[in-house]
Amino acid sequence: MAALDLLPRHIAITMDGNGRWAAARGLPRSAGHKAGLAPVRMCIEVCSQRGVEALTLFAFSSENWRRPADEVGSLMGLFIEALDREIDELHQKSVRMRFIGERRTLSVRLQARIAAAEARTAANGGLKLQVAMSYGGRWDIVQAAQKVARDCASGRLRAEDVNEEAFAAHLSLAGLPEADLLIRTGGEQRISNFLLWDLAYAELHFSPRLWPDFTLADLEDALAYFAGRERRFGRVAAPRAAAKA
Ligand code: IPE
Ligand code: IPE
Ligand code: MG
Repeated sequence: MAALDLLPRHIAITMDGNGRWAAARGLPRSAGHKAGLAPVRMCIEVCSQRGVEALTLFAFSSENWRRPADEVGSLMGLFIEALDREIDELHQKSVRMRFIGERRTLSVRLQARIAAAEARTAANGGLKLQVAMSYGGRWDIVQAAQKVARDCASGRLRAEDVNEEAFAAHLSLAGLPEADLLIRTGGEQRISNFLLWDLAYAELHFSPRLWPDFTLADLEDALAYFAGRERRFGRVAAPRAAAKA
């Protein structure tokens, strides 16, 4: 197990491979999405217990709207069901829930559940859980740019004062420690329009495991991978590590 100081503060997960998991069993893709709830619960539990500060889960991308209507419909139904079923326990665990993404594209019913979950858990001091729904990294940057532009137009902000800090304050994950570990399951090694700004210096861990099969041992592997990285942030290696290399 990783020592506390080698634990990521903010883990982001692209939960991929549900469809392939279902296809391998001759089941509809929706069965794979349903089976993906168990590893979500496991990751929340482990991150809560070990004191990871923030966990951001990619549940539905801006581009996933391009999928067949029945798959989109079953996913949206599943989000509502899962929220209804899990919210009491999440609240008991003191999890603070937030949703990031283009909310107005979600159904009114789902928007209401989201708002209720956020309001109910807002004062909780435990794990900061972000669920990315109808989320795209490009959308996030554009919506931040719009806010900055509005501030400039109204005279609240001068163009020359727009710096990284001022800009990032308008991004969806503002106020959280920067994502320091990205886990993507399902074997693909791409970002698929997840957190573009926020992953600037994240360690990337790609697991071949399909999301519904992602276990505690797989999460441990990702944490061990993170603990073994030397994070340089553009600097040169620390003397001891450099001597070993
Ligand atoms: C991830 O699994 C879940 C969502 C994108 C909503 P997929 O549905 O992408 O599963 P694969 O990649 O087709 O196996
Ligand atoms: C990324 O997976 C989105 C989520 C896991 C929510 P996709 O399955 O949509 O990504 P691509 O299409 O393989 O790049
Ligand atoms: Mg996929």
